[in-house]
Amino acid sequence: MRSNCDISLNGAAGAAGDFPVGTGSASCGTGGGVLVGASKKMAGDAVGALAGSPGGLSDEIFRVENLTMAYGDYVVMRDLNFSVKRGEIFFIMGGSGCGKSTLLRHMIGLLKPAKGAIWYMGKNFSEASDDDRAGMLRQFGVLYQGGALWTSMTLAENVELPLREFTNVSDSDAADIVDLKLSLVGLNGFGAFYPSEISGGMCKRAGLARAMALDPSVLFFDEPSAGLDPISSHRLDELIVQMRDSLGATVVVVSHELASIFAIADRALFLDAGSHTQAAVGSPRELADSDNPAVRIFMNRGVDPRAKEGSRL
Ligand SMILES: Nc1ncnc2c1ncn2[C@@H]1O[C@H](COP(=O)(O)OP(=O)(O)O)[C@@H](O)[C@H]1O
Ligand SMILES: [Mg+2]
Repeated sequence: MRSNCDISLNGAAGAAGDFPVGTGSASCGTGGGVLVGASKKMAGDAVGALAGSPGGLSDEIFRVENLTMAYGDYVVMRDLNFSVKRGEIFFIMGGSGCGKSTLLRHMIGLLKPAKGAIWYMGKNFSEASDDDRAGMLRQFGVLYQGGALWTSMTLAENVELPLREFTNVSDSDAADIVDLKLSLVGLNGFGAFYPSEISGGMCKRAGLARAMALDPSVLFFDEPSAGLDPISSHRLDELIVQMRDSLGATVVVVSHELASIFAIADRALFLDAGSHTQAAVGSPRELADSDNPAVRIFMNRGVDPRAKEGSRL
């Protein structure tokens, strides 16, 4: 039944379940277009109300403070400090196995910090009440590494799943929302297709439609272009920007695709597997001129612009 990857309903709430949340009874409200406006307004109101609160300056959606992440005794990363601003496209970069997906799982509340804290809209995830946490999780849409569609369901059924799970919308409203989401990602008319009948790029876009089903304020992508050809990857980048611009969503992308980073990232965080902490955070241009040679050389495709002849890694 399960496809080649994990399923996320509206992301965090439906995922692996290592963090109990009571989102099942939450109600989404009403039809497609209204939902989009509602979540945008909610995000704005909540952020506006936070001025001066301990965890959030007005333009910060996330603040990660002195975060140490560990599995048992194994410390994956320590002393992470960065913020994600409202409406930006924020990349998390770093070598394979350095902890990018682990960080994403912390940011959506599936894993608890070993030390430090993660603030979302001024609230500390770990200290939030179950109700507050459920409300926070409902605002996240996640596209997990690998894609995440149920192969035995049509695209429409896949997109409809979170609506069925987390809302009380009527059948006709659900159908309208599904049509809207599929058309937003350029899959108008493909609702009756099964994942096996469409290309990898289209599967990714359908996964994005499902991640957006509940109109999240924040969209998370774990290596969205993995396995895609350059043209599909470029189209997905364009779609991510389009979602951010039209829905007012904040986007967090795990990726080390330099073409994507330079094309769409506002800022990026560079995790260093060797020192188990962050090496740099900043705009792609700042990172390309970082004082940290590993970051600078990576961002310049293996060539150090500060070296006379250009030294290759
Ligand atoms: N559930 C887990 N239990 C124990 N170790 C894990 C678990 N998930 C990941 N790891 C380890 O944590 C490190 C970071 O993994 P991950 O966050 O998946 O890296 P990345 O996404 O950057 O490739 C790796 O060494 C991985 O083997
Ligand atoms: Mg990963």
